This record gives sequence, C-alpha cells and structure tokens, in this order.
Amino acid sequence: MKPRAIFAKKVVTPIGKEYKQGKDMNSLIVYENVYIVYNEKILDITKEAPGVNVQAQANLVTPGFIDCHTHIPFYGFRSKEFVMRSQGAKYVDILKAGGGIHYTVSEVRKVSENVLAAFNIPFIREMIKRGVTRIEGKSGYGLDVENELKQLKALKEISEKISAGITPTFLGAHAVPKGKSQEEYLNELTENFDKFKECADFVDIFVDDGAYSVENARWYLNKAREAGFKIRLHADEIARTGAAALGVELGAVSVDHLLKINDEDIHLIASSETVAVMMPSTSFYLGEEYAPARKLINAGAIVALGSDFNPGSNTINDPTFVFHLAVSKLKMTPEEALTAFTLNSAYVLGVSESEGSIEVGKAANFVAWKIQELEDIPYLPAHDSVDFTVVKGGMIKND
Ligand code: NIG
Ligand code: FE
Repeated sequence: MKPRAIFAKKVVTPIGKEYKQGKDMNSLIVYENVYIVYNEKILDITKEAPGVNVQAQANLVTPGFIDCHTHIPFYGFRSKEFVMRSQGAKYVDILKAGGGIHYTVSEVRKVSENVLAAFNIPFIREMIKRGVTRIEGKSGYGLDVENELKQLKALKEISEKISAGITPTFLGAHAVPKGKSQEEYLNELTENFDKFKECADFVDIFVDDGAYSVENARWYLNKAREAGFKIRLHADEIARTGAAALGVELGAVSVDHLLKINDEDIHLIASSETVAVMMPSTSFYLGEEYAPARKLINAGAIVALGSDFNPGSNTINDPTFVFHLAVSKLKMTPEEALTAFTLNSAYVLGVSESEGSIEVGKAANFVAWKIQELEDIPYLPAHDSVDFTVVKGGMIKND
C-alpha cells in the first residue's frame, strides 16, 4: 500500500503497548493540526506537510474502538423475549425455562457456516462505520462439538470477508445443554480442546446462577489453561457467585460484566492484572444495575469496555452509545472511557503491541469524527458522528 496521509485538527489517543490502570487511564496525548502518514501502519505523526497524497481533512481523530466482548456470530432474533422482559419477565427465568440462549442455540443449529457468516457480516459493517476496527466474537450458541466448531469457522470466514480484525473465543460453556449435566458436558468439551484450539486462543465460561458453578468452572478452566488457552469469565452478572474471585485466582485475562461484585471483589480485581470488562449497554438493555466501574478505577483496576452485542441481553452494537453509558452511568471520564475502549480492550485481546492507540508502528486503525471534541462522543450517542473509519490503512466512508 502506498503511503498516504490525512490532516487532523485534533488527535486524541492513549499511548503505550500495555494496559493503563486506575487513574492512569486519564492520561491521553493530544496533537493539534498534524498529518497522520500511513500505509497499513502509522508511519508518522507530523506538523510538516508530507510529500504524499493528503486524502482528507478531519476534525477529531481517535483510535478505532476495539469491542472486546460480543456474541457474534448468532442467528435469529429474540424480540418476543424482549417484550416479555419489558412486561416483567426476568432474563434468568426465561433461560431456566429453556428459552433465551437455548432458543438461539436451536436457530444456530439449523443453519450452515455460510449462512451464519452472511447473517452477521452486516452487523459488523455497521460497527465499522461507527468506528470499530476490531471485534471479539464467541461461540456458545452450538452447545455441542460440531455446532461450536461451526460458529468458530464462521468467524474465520467473516474475518476473510471484512477488513476489521476478528478475535475468536471458544465459549462452549455458555449454558448447560438440555439432557446433559454440567460435569458431563464440560468433560466432553475438554476432550475436544485440541479441535477448538485450532480455531481460538481464548476460552470463556458463563459462571452464574442458571449457568455453571464456580466449582465446575475451576476444574474446566484449569484444563483450559493446561491446554494452552488464555481464559476469560462471564462473572457475577446475575448473582454474586464468586466468579470474579475465581478469575483472579486463576490469572484470567478478564472477568466480564461484574454487576453484582462487592468491595472485597473490587479489591481483589484491582490488585491483579485481570481486566474488568464493563458492558453498560447490557445493564441498560435489561434494565439492571450498572457495574461499579468508578470504584474499580479508583481502586486501581484495569478497566476495558465492550458492547456484549447478542440477540438476548443486549442488541446494541453502537460504540458511541456504549461510550455515552460509560460516562453517564458508569461515571467514567471521557478520557477513561476512550482508554478502556481502545488500548485496554486491545490488551484483553492480546493485540495492544500493534493496535489500540495512534502511534508510529501500530496498525493504521482510527476514526475521523465530524465532531470536534472528545466529550462530544458521549454527549451525542447514536448519532452519525463518524466521518470515516480507517482500518489497516483502508478508508471506509460513513455515508
Ligand atoms: O453476556 N450472560 C451470558 N451471555 C450473554 C447473553 C447471551 C444471550 O442471552 O444470548 C451475556 O449477556
Ligand atoms: Fe457476554
């Protein structure tokens, strides 16, 4: 790719190849009136007019958002469940009655890998236009070896068709399949770890009321670590079961959700290198409480943001809306929210060496905004504020 440039009135970015924790999440670099010179990678950030084609003028430029927690790929919708919940039914009761995740499983099992990929690509394109340059996607709607592998292969197919980066996670333990015990099914998954390892570096498990017990999760995650996986947990979302503490104990890369954690858990997480992943759009969508992000950051934790985009507990995939909720409900500063949604989420996915900030040598992944200031992002949720997104040097216009 031939070098090219954009001119930016303002560039706002965290800096570094690792995570930022606690109050350090506020430390951003601001450049004014600079050219960003790039091919697939960022080559220079300079005040001098570069001897290359200047493709566009931008107001505000930030790193591309890295959505470190989605449930792509899924198939089919659960709008009836959404209406039931709006009229008082509870997410966990629908799940326990065999609906929820189990309904999506029945839909996913019916379709081919190709259909699964084709159904999800439009959602990812939408996200790219809104500034996302990498997403994580999970299996978890197959609940048997064949269909879990189908989901992971669909993610591979998607990654060959779109420019944004895709990080796959094996979430075979998303619910307990009908007709099997937790122990039986987890055992079956571990016996097939070599097949899943070919498709994913991460293993995730839903440890909660209505899902897996802490005891079974400890056994399973230890096996996953032995098999060479990095581990993540859906933790303490519905009830405080001790899942976050288990994640810290096992050196998990992240513990995600954390709506129900207490001060003791906050202290444990803050004294560890396990990242707390916050997904305020799920709290919003379910009408539940918000995770204690402010307390976590004040205690020195590493906090990242994701959407949790899925067909049940949250259908919101718009990063500006997640950003809005991070500021208005989680009480994060706009600076902290930017770090959480770029550099720290890159760290969760193991790509912070090469993504997550606007720095020479990193991938040319950034967002050019029509708006002028960082605070305008959370102030104007779900508006069309992105001018264009650059992914690996390629410009995607939002029109
Ligand atoms: O992260 N909590 C478990 N899993 C998802 C929901 C998946 C679904 O309802 O389909 C979540 O909220
Ligand atoms: Fe999730």
